[in-house]
Amino acid sequence: MTEPRPQPLVRTSDLSKRYRVGRSPFPVQRRIVHAVEQVSLDIFPGETLGIVGESGCGKSTLGRCLVRLTEITSGALEFEGRDITSASQRQLRPLRRQMQMVFQDPAASLNPRRRVGDLLADPFRVHEKLSRSEMMDRVEELLVRVELLPEHAQRFPHEFSGGQRQRIGIARALALKPRLIVADEPVSALDVSIQAQIINLLCDLRDEFSLTYVFIAHDLSVVRQFASRVAVMYMGSIVETGPVDAVFSAPRHHYTAALRSAVPVPDVDNRPGQRIVLKGDLPSPLDPPSGCRFHTRCVAATTVCRQQRPVLSLVDKAHFVACHHPRGG
Ligand SMILES: Nc1ncnc2c1ncn2[C@@H]1O[C@H](COP(=O)(O)OP(=O)(O)OP(=O)(O)O)[C@@H](O)[C@H]1O
Ligand code: SF4
Ligand SMILES: [Mg+2]
Repeated sequence: MTEPRPQPLVRTSDLSKRYRVGRSPFPVQRRIVHAVEQVSLDIFPGETLGIVGESGCGKSTLGRCLVRLTEITSGALEFEGRDITSASQRQLRPLRRQMQMVFQDPAASLNPRRRVGDLLADPFRVHEKLSRSEMMDRVEELLVRVELLPEHAQRFPHEFSGGQRQRIGIARALALKPRLIVADEPVSALDVSIQAQIINLLCDLRDEFSLTYVFIAHDLSVVRQFASRVAVMYMGSIVETGPVDAVFSAPRHHYTAALRSAVPVPDVDNRPGQRIVLKGDLPSPLDPPSGCRFHTRCVAATTVCRQQRPVLSLVDKAHFVACHHPRGG
């Protein structure tokens, strides 16, 4: 008997986001950036899904769509089984506390003229009717939970180090005990030693609050450490997804193999991976290649790759790949 699958916390079906950019003499389709294309993804309660891919492949856009910080162009988004694709801001309000985002540069989202205590009290002011002293108690609890000090509430954001500011960003996301946190490169701007501390904090919070994370990163080794499942993006689409170990130790998509070979992740037999250098540049998202978006750079491309877009198909347990000629397992 197969076990019943839990209901996904988040489900996207063919979710796409296109941006219309600038004025230009080119035909109208050339002025549309295909930032996210037909992404269908289930995110299950309690899991940590890593999203990786080169700069500009659509990771942040997808992350922002997942928490509806960005309007979705087409496709559908569900949260706890409820369709929120085109929910209004008013309809989203009760859900906002359930879905939060942590950004790479917390300083950019922390008003420099306000004390940290006031910044952290905002979610309570907006969503809960608490007295000032109750709010301040909650703020102090939060500061302590992210390993800062209660008296830090009186300071301004610029008085903190980068790592401490990220702790404040995490505290703010955590304030209303969300179910989902989308963390967009939360440690990319930090020193390596500080990165480990922040990752440890995120791990502890995940266990304590039963959080579900979407963790966006350039750095595959960070994702490997922290995530249980990974989705690899190329030009707006997910090209491979599966358990972290399977995807990184035996990648089935040629792009994942190239991406992985650029970092020292050993293969299945624990041999250091051979470095594969990607040919050609990343094509323009204003004019994506036909068929498989990766065919202009893929060593295994054939005619069918130029003509037909491959869809994600199951290749192994919970491991999917979008490729006409997947690499050997
Ligand atoms: N507001 C916007 N208007 C127009 N184009 C945008 C906008 N935001 C993103 N894009 C474009 O959409 C594509 C995906 O961008 P996105 O920021 O999601 O990529 P990313 O994978 O997060 O990149 P990075 O690793 O550099 O953060 C890029 O081509 C980008 O230029
Ligand atoms: S579909 Fe073809 S071009 Fe795309 S990754 Fe697979 S082999 Fe390469
Ligand atoms: Mg980004």
